[in-house]
Amino acid sequence: KKIVVLISGSGSNLQALMDKLHKQQINDQQVEIVAVISNKADAFGLQRASEANIPAILVESKGVGSREQYDALLAAELDKLQPDLILLAGFMRILTSDFVNQYQGKMLNIHPSLLPKYPGVNTHQRAIDAGDKEHGATVHFVTPELDSGPTVLQAKVPIFSEDSAQDLTERVLTQEHQIYALAASWFVSGRLNMQGQFAYLDNKQL
Ligand code: GRF
Repeated sequence: KKIVVLISGSGSNLQALMDKLHKQQINDQQVEIVAVISNKADAFGLQRASEANIPAILVESKGVGSREQYDALLAAELDKLQPDLILLAGFMRILTSDFVNQYQGKMLNIHPSLLPKYPGVNTHQRAIDAGDKEHGATVHFVTPELDSGPTVLQAKVPIFSEDSAQDLTERVLTQEHQIYALAASWFVSGRLNMQGQFAYLDNKQL
């Protein structure tokens, strides 16, 4: 099964996905991350990909006039790669409905909050400011509305009174790395799919 990972930054989730899934055999399926695509030239994740001998592709968003134009460039790359699964891993761009619809049911995202709480950015600080006692991360299928597709899996962490946003970011990231690879492994092994507004996990293959 062919996976393409889309990133914009550090790529610690990408690293976890490479470590846990790349060139692994999962339930009879040979899994390969065939490319990593970044919209930013300075994304450290591009280096992580190169170090793992995975093609690192820059589809730069800077200077591209419209979302439609950018998504067309992205779609052109993906058409060449023909992935079975697209993983958004810290890809900090809103995608057009047309683009999302083209890959609906084949694209997952990881978001650093317990959705439906805190879609968008700055989630850790917002959770602290709200006085929340818990926070976490969500893996979900991507649908046209931002950060709101069917939930596959969530991980919860506590928020302690002395936490800074950085403390919380790190606590959540550790969990992100676990649940994203797990959800992706379910998908590539054929257990996980999107059915209407729900993520469906088959119990056939345990
Ligand atoms: C993660 O918290 C992810 O959930 C969010 O952006 C961050 C990316 O971190 N969308 P990294 O690039 O994977 O280290």
